[in-house]
Amino acid sequence: MSKKLSSTAFEPVSDPVSDPAAKSQSDSFKDAVHNPLTRLLGTAYPILQGAMAWVSESTLAAAVSNAGGAGIIAAGGREASWVKEEIQKARTMTGRPFGVNVPLISTPEKEAIINVLCESGIDFVTLGAGDPLPYLRALKASGIKVGGIVPSLRLAKKLETAGVDFIILEGMEAGGKIGKSTTLSLMTNVIPELHVPVVAAGGFASGRGLAAALVMGAHGIQMGTRFILANECQVHPDYKNAIMDATDEDSVILGTRYGKATRCIRSAFTDKYLALEAEGGSPQSLETMMRGASRRMAMEGAGVDGMNGIALAGQSLSQLNDLESAEWIIRDIMGEARAVLENCSLLK
Ligand SMILES: Cc1cc2nc3c(=O)[nH]c(=O)nc-3n(C[C@H](O)[C@H](O)[C@H](O)COP(=O)(O)O)c2cc1C
Repeated sequence: MSKKLSSTAFEPVSDPVSDPAAKSQSDSFKDAVHNPLTRLLGTAYPILQGAMAWVSESTLAAAVSNAGGAGIIAAGGREASWVKEEIQKARTMTGRPFGVNVPLISTPEKEAIINVLCESGIDFVTLGAGDPLPYLRALKASGIKVGGIVPSLRLAKKLETAGVDFIILEGMEAGGKIGKSTTLSLMTNVIPELHVPVVAAGGFASGRGLAAALVMGAHGIQMGTRFILANECQVHPDYKNAIMDATDEDSVILGTRYGKATRCIRSAFTDKYLALEAEGGSPQSLETMMRGASRRMAMEGAGVDGMNGIALAGQSLSQLNDLESAEWIIRDIMGEARAVLENCSLLK
């Protein structure tokens, strides 16, 4: 079956915001794109590369930042020394702003990592999966911008009141650990209630998605899955192939029964896991099966029987069929978003 990124219909332009060859020099598009989020993060474009544990390290983050987006190193499950080294490596590859993400519950060395971040003077940090409030003051005192990743209006308001600089609304279309609300319902419920810049995440893979998020009142998008196909993303080829082979019907959620809902691509591993879950397997047996599975997929691949690991990925899969540079991905998305918004003829 041939899967083609429909956005290839739009020729990516050299600078999708101010290219003089553009059909019209749309000031309103520039305003939509050079907005409070890009001013806060110091990026050219409102596209964040979502942190992906065991997947997004310095090479990918630096490539995204060099392309005008916001690259993010994933500190989840890592040691503080690794985080320090990756920040140093990224600095040798880019002079542009980049960030680090700490999922608090799943990172035993979180205290030490927060200290590394404060000392490193990193541009911004995103915090989720746990209570960020104990770390907020130290990070902000070090001049670091902090984004809170939330799955609900209640948490968004709590973090805004506590002083985060921006909010990432992550819907259940996203790859990895997910909440219960969709990205669309989060944008509908939360955006009107917030005053800080808002990033929408979960299910974005195209410029049409960025355009939709901007129309909904978000200031930008965060994408994970599409960036796994970036040439600069260092994961095992089996992982990239799993994404390119998958369609919209191949996304499954593991761990729902035990409150650890995790979205990934269907495989022999996930069939076995879901059968065990349906049989009423104990939380311990399911936890044992899951332990290290996403790390193994990223580093070693699926294994001959497809049982070595799981490919965490979001729901927007059918259009992802190409390996591209991070720069191409960002320009493609910006070019398509501009074309879609400028050509929007519904009211003409
Ligand atoms: C492989 C993978 C690992 C992820 N790991 C993390 C993580 O460590 N911390 C985090 O906050 N979000 C994590 N996420 C979520 C992403 O940062 C991002 O919000 C999500 O991928 C957006 O949805 P999309 O995959 O549909 O683009 C992960 C997602 C994927 C696909």
